[in-house]
Amino acid sequence: MTLTIRPRHDEDLPALAAALVRVHAQDGYPVEGVADPEGWLRHPNELQSWTATNDTHPIGQVTLSRAVPDDDAARAWQEQTGGDIDRLAIPVRLFVDPDHRGSGAGRLLMEAVVNYARSRGLAIAFDVMLKDRAAIRLYERLGAVRIADLTHHYGDGLTEPAAVYVVPLPN
Ligand SMILES: CC(C)(COP(=O)(O)OP(=O)(O)OC[C@H]1O[C@@H](n2cnc3c(N)ncnc32)[C@H](O)[C@@H]1OP(=O)(O)O)[C@@H](O)C(=O)NCCC(=O)NCCS
Repeated sequence: MTLTIRPRHDEDLPALAAALVRVHAQDGYPVEGVADPEGWLRHPNELQSWTATNDTHPIGQVTLSRAVPDDDAARAWQEQTGGDIDRLAIPVRLFVDPDHRGSGAGRLLMEAVVNYARSRGLAIAFDVMLKDRAAIRLYERLGAVRIADLTHHYGDGLTEPAAVYVVPLPN
């Protein structure tokens, strides 16, 4: 298999939406469900999205979004650093098709995010549900550091334990 990371195209969305439905069935990600997977992949504050392909077939993706003040991760990052939210970007919507896990796609997608943000002088913070253990291992291997614990509220009064991570800038 030839694994490639490239900017996402609109034509990738049907295959990514189908993969997302499989991810939700296996991993319960996202906790909110996937009633409209293509709509969910079109993030309103997208800076850039990337697709992982196996040969030419989309198998996973990540979106880097502009931070907004009411985002949990942005709030935790601002409390800890006093930084300007305009200088913060938040990776979201990271997933890899269950049939293509463990071959480095997730790590390469996150590396694309980190390289993009660093080249623009943006800090990176994001939240993750504690149940998403594979994602947490991936983030910690990339050097991400947990700065806060929080509770994610969703649906009709449902909650899920979560944490906020930052990727430190190189010295
Ligand atoms: C997290 C996720 C994107 C990783 O994708 P992936 O392509 O398998 O990741 P990689 O192959 O790059 O693996 C990176 C590291 O993640 C960890 N990892 C990957 N799959 C794992 C698994 N099934 N169990 C435990 N750890 C795992 C390992 O530490 C691995 O490093 P190593 O193989 O070098 O030891 C994928 O598991 C996924 O889509 N999970 C469901 C959605 C999700 O949780 N998204 C994140 C929300 S914040």
